[in-house]
Amino acid sequence: MLSIVVLISGGGSNLRALLEAASDRDFPARIVAVGSDTDAAGLAHAEQFGVPTFTVTPTSFADRAAWGDELLQQVEQWTPDLVVCAGFMRILPPRFVGALSPNLINTHPALLPLFPGAHAVRDALAAGATETGVTVHIVDEGVDTGPTLVQRSVAVLPGDTEHVLQERIKVIERDLLVQTVRDIATSTIDLSSIHQSNRSATPS
Ligand code: GAR
Repeated sequence: MLSIVVLISGGGSNLRALLEAASDRDFPARIVAVGSDTDAAGLAHAEQFGVPTFTVTPTSFADRAAWGDELLQQVEQWTPDLVVCAGFMRILPPRFVGALSPNLINTHPALLPLFPGAHAVRDALAAGATETGVTVHIVDEGVDTGPTLVQRSVAVLPGDTEHVLQERIKVIERDLLVQTVRDIATSTIDLSSIHQSNRSATPS
């Protein structure tokens, strides 16, 4: 049984999808804790499912590294097999990434490498894209640059606003994230070998 810590910053609809999936006893993963960098509304989903939560606020620390070290300590106390960033809107410091990657994944609302960063849906609309989507990837030290695990595309429709498109993406995203976690738990996706082959493919 794969144990997971989920990190969120917002409403947590992806977290909720994972909690619902994991409440089925046949699902091969369990969420052991949910962390946040803020008083996120989505923490309420964890509480509803009886899953412990923790919040580590960057403003309480001298710098990003110190914040990351405390976040890492909070995460590691649950000894998770996997950490899932599901709408976690902070860049994770190198020590955090180094300690957990490749067992650290993120879901992003675009077809990476297109539209990385915090405003992927807005950026896709501004660029006039006719297609965007979702990427689930291993987190590395860059901003949305780690090896891609899976992607699904979503059409941009005439008249789409950022909110409308974001919600349409999220329907696909929740499904893809749950499926990806299942695939990691059943070793259908092997994070270590993807990480390794990506490293050997990267020129030094
Ligand atoms: C998701 O669409 C996720 O991909 C995005 O935030 C949303 C959170 O939704 N993350 C990023 O943009 C990270 N760059 P949720 O809180 O309802 O799960």
